[in-house]
Amino acid sequence: MRANWKTLTRERRAVYGWGLIIAAIGGALLLMPGRESWHAAGPHNVGHTKIACNDCHAPSPGNVVGQAFSNLAYAVGLTDSARYFIYAPAGNEQCRACHEDPDNRHPVDDFLEPEFADARQAMGVQFCVSCHQQHLGVRVSVTPRVCQHCHEDTALDDDPIDVPHTTLINDQRWETCLGCHDFHGNHDREVPRMMSQMLTEEQIQHYFDGGESPYGHRRLTVIQTMRYGDKGDL
Ligand code: HEC
Ligand code: HEC
Ligand code: HEC
Ligand code: HEC
Ligand code: HEC
Repeated sequence: MRANWKTLTRERRAVYGWGLIIAAIGGALLLMPGRESWHAAGPHNVGHTKIACNDCHAPSPGNVVGQAFSNLAYAVGLTDSARYFIYAPAGNEQCRACHEDPDNRHPVDDFLEPEFADARQAMGVQFCVSCHQQHLGVRVSVTPRVCQHCHEDTALDDDPIDVPHTTLINDQRWETCLGCHDFHGNHDREVPRMMSQMLTEEQIQHYFDGGESPYGHRRLTVIQTMRYGDKGDL
């Protein structure tokens, strides 16, 4: 027979009761200001170690008890959607507050056009966070081959490179693109014309994972919060 509350002995009830109280105290501790990192989803994007949680996360609607209750109801199958606990997820709007880049060669809003329906479906190209997940401790979380979703028809009349773009694309060599081009076009640099001058896949992956930029350090548009000098101001 399955045990239920009524059939339990007094002692057992007390044990369960204390269990609940301890769990509640643990939960409350996690919600205390200054304890944010305890329940952060993981290490930050490399550039964001000094940014506050609420620069990206607006508080979730409703109060904490309500959120906890509805998530509990979701966990035991009473409702079919979980509420975001404490923080609502961040979107393009939050990113742009600090990362406005008017010369971006790939503005996410362009990808709302019908021609990008497949790319949206495949990987959500219209959202910053599809390529820059925040809590993985990396700079770029997407595969370097991401260019394949939109550049299958790219062809240059007078192709300046030693192996033409059409050949690279026919051979599905998508890992080469970032060897010569950055994605947002925000690094002040010459685009190489020889395959021998390309960055290696290892260099690109190292940069994605948080290493130094192999595209150089001069940016065309400076990240807004960097203009105020000292990073300590963040
Ligand atoms: C730069 C913006 C940014 C900052 C700063 C940030 N987050 Fe997030 N957070 C996100 C995004 C975007 C997501 C959605 C999942 C993802 O992209 O990794 C997220 C997801 C989450 C989640 C849900 C976890 C999941 O896997 O769905 C939690 C919890 C969270 N963040 C907590 C925090 C806490 C706590 C802090 C402060 C220590 C913080 N975040 C700071 C952007 C941010
Ligand atoms: C409160 C301001 C702020 C917000 C909000 C913010 N960022 Fe940042 N971000 C910064 C700063 C400052 C840096 C670090 C610049 C440096 O030191 O290189 C940075 C760095 C980065 C980097 C690494 C850049 C590099 O060259 O190392 C990426 C990628 C990035 N942010 C993407 C995002 C995305 C995506 C979002 C939205 C989920 C976001 N940021 C929200 C301020 C912000
Ligand atoms: C389709 C994938 C993709 C999307 C969408 C995307 N990025 Fe990136 N991002 C990249 C890649 C790849 C790099 C590394 C190459 C480079 O530096 O341009 C990068 C680099 C960066 C950098 C560092 C270089 C720089 O430009 O200063 C920042 C900051 C950044 N992204 C912010 C954003 C923000 C903010 C958004 C949304 C408005 C966004 N990204 C949308 C793929 C993406
Ligand atoms: C969601 C679609 C999409 C993705 C993904 C994408 N691009 Fe593009 N890209 C475009 C569009 C649209 C243009 C502008 C029209 C054109 O030149 O084809 C463009 C233009 C460019 C340009 C020329 C920009 C200029 O100002 O002359 C380069 C270089 C480029 N992309 C490289 C890349 C690289 C490298 C990747 C992969 C890291 C990539 N793109 C991924 C859609 C995309
Ligand atoms: C060896 C270096 C190199 C490689 C590899 C490379 N490109 Fe290029 N690409 C160039 C140069 C040089 C140009 C000429 C324009 C310039 O200077 O930006 C160019 C131009 C472009 C343009 C602009 C086309 C136009 O109409 O103006 C796009 C889009 C592009 N490349 C996408 C890609 C994609 C996608 C890949 C991967 C399949 C790729 N490139 C691989 C060097 C390279």
